[in-house]
This record gives sequence, structure tokens and C-alpha cells, in this order.
Amino acid sequence: MAEPILEYSNVGLSFDDKRVLSGVSFSVLPGDTYILLGAAGSGKTLLLKLAISLLQCDEGSIRLLGRDITRLRESEMFDLRAEVGILFQEGGLFDSLTIAENVGYPLRNQKNSNTNEDQIEARVKASLDFVELGHTLDKFPSELSGGMRRRVGIARASVTNPKLSLYDSPTAGLDPITAHTIMSLIVKEREIRHTTTVLVTHRYQDGAMMANYRWDKNRNTVYRAAPWGEYANLRTTFLVMNEGRNVFRGTQQELEACRDPYVSQFVLRQPAPKPGAELYQGYLPA
Ligand SMILES: Nc1ncnc2c1ncn2[C@@H]1O[C@H](COP(=O)(O)OP(=O)(O)O)[C@@H](O)[C@H]1O
Ligand SMILES: [Mg+2]
Repeated sequence: MAEPILEYSNVGLSFDDKRVLSGVSFSVLPGDTYILLGAAGSGKTLLLKLAISLLQCDEGSIRLLGRDITRLRESEMFDLRAEVGILFQEGGLFDSLTIAENVGYPLRNQKNSNTNEDQIEARVKASLDFVELGHTLDKFPSELSGGMRRRVGIARASVTNPKLSLYDSPTAGLDPITAHTIMSLIVKEREIRHTTTVLVTHRYQDGAMMANYRWDKNRNTVYRAAPWGEYANLRTTFLVMNEGRNVFRGTQQELEACRDPYVSQFVLRQPAPKPGAELYQGYLPA
């Protein structure tokens, strides 16, 4: 069996007297997609921060890319972190840097990278083209819409060709069409770069999309990989957090069958579309 990309073993964490994570265990294998659902404050963002050791847990252990990072020194963590792409909840672009500089930041900031300036520029351009924003290189974040800034965040998170991508609420605060665009790009990223993905979201549709949609390179669009009413699965696991505990882990089908009232509130059963509209067309603005 393949070695996990990311593995939590009985992870616990407290702040002062408040226990914010207890007994969390799961492992993400290469090519897996994990969807983290749960109420605000249930510990989703903390799990992502622990994955790249921005925080350290005080119980259990975490392995990232084959290394136990639980007590790894910051200097050793630096190189490992370069293998992980992250889109934080707030997007976190630097206002005073251009879009090109923002996207190039992870490359320039890699310690052991021997990438020269020309290569950096080419990769920045390719990464921005990937999210259809190749024309915004010299703009500043304030000149772009919220949805475009989120796409720049995806370009920045993927510019290093990470083995693992962590997305914290990539669709939060966006209108449904823009949210769909963002999720299409994340599906595309998984399809084309075979990225292992952990995604925090409040929108059930986002998880359903990861579980059922693939990317069609020729038509430049997402498509549903299973008929309506059936589940494609696509190696997607749903994980529900409640007050620092993992209270559900399973497929979309298992999630929808779960009768636990806390878990059920995160499930949105969507009606099948009218005949003829089965294929969900991707929406990618030019
Ligand atoms: N640096 C911190 N100091 C104290 N409490 C924190 C800190 N970071 C997070 N918490 C608490 O831990 C809990 C889980 O936080 P978080 O993982 O951010 O939740 P969410 O599921 O909304 O992402 C919350 O109650 C939050 O207030
Ligand atoms: Mg959060």
C-alpha cells in the first residue's frame, strides 16, 4: 500500500484550558481528496495549519510526505512546506505586490530551489494561464474582483507543483457562479496535476463536485463522471468535525445515508436536473 501523503494519528490540541481537537485520526493517500465539513470553530482550519506545522499538536502525531513532523525543527519544515500548496481562508494576497509577484512568491521563497528568474517568470505565467488570468500579471490585487483574487490564490498555491494542496473555504463569500468557477479550477488541478487535495468548505456542492466531476481537457470544462442519482466517488472522502472531534468519515453515499442530526445538517440533497441538462457545463470566463 502507498505511503500516506498526510496522516493524523490521534491528534489532540488545547489552547489554555480549551480543548480544540481530540483524537483525530485519518490518512490521506496519494490521489485522495478529503472534504472537511463542520460548524464554525469545529477545528477544520486548525487541521490544515497542523498539516504544515504552523502549529504543533500536543497529543498524537502527524506525518507529512513520509516524515514525522510532530516535533520537526522549523528549518527542516521549510523544505517540506514547499511541497504543499495552500489557499488560506482569506486568500492572503500581498496588496503591495503585483499579481505576478504574488504568484511567484512561493518560488522565490524556496530555499533549495535552483529556479532562475526566467524559469520563475515562465512558471508564473503558466500558473496564471491555468486559472485563465494570464492577462493580469502587472495588475495589483485591488484591481481584481473577489473571484479573480481567489483564482490568483489558486495559481499561487499550485505554482510549485505541490504534491498536496490544502484549500480553506475557497468558495466562501462568492456568488454561486464564481464559486462554481473556483471549484472547476480545483477539479482541473486535481485532474491535470494529480494533486492530492484536502478542502475545507461550508458548501456541500463543493464536496459533491469533487466527488463526482472530472475535467475534460478537450472541451475545457468539468463534466459529471456518473449519471445523476449515482456516485462517481473519485476517491473522495467526507469528514465531518464537531467541536474538535471527527464525528463522521465516509463516502458521499454514506454521508447522505447518515441519520445523525449534526452530520445531516451539512448534507444538501440536490434534485436531478431536467432531462437534457444532465451535463453540468463548466463556466470559465475569459
Ligand atoms: N490561536 C488560537 N488561540 C486560541 N484558540 C484558537 C486559536 N486558533 C483557533 N482557536 C480555536 O480553536 C477552535 C477551532 O478553530 P478553527 O480550526 O479555526 O475552526 P474552523 O472549523 O471554523 O476552521 C475554535 O474554537 C477557535 O476559537
Ligand atoms: Mg476555519
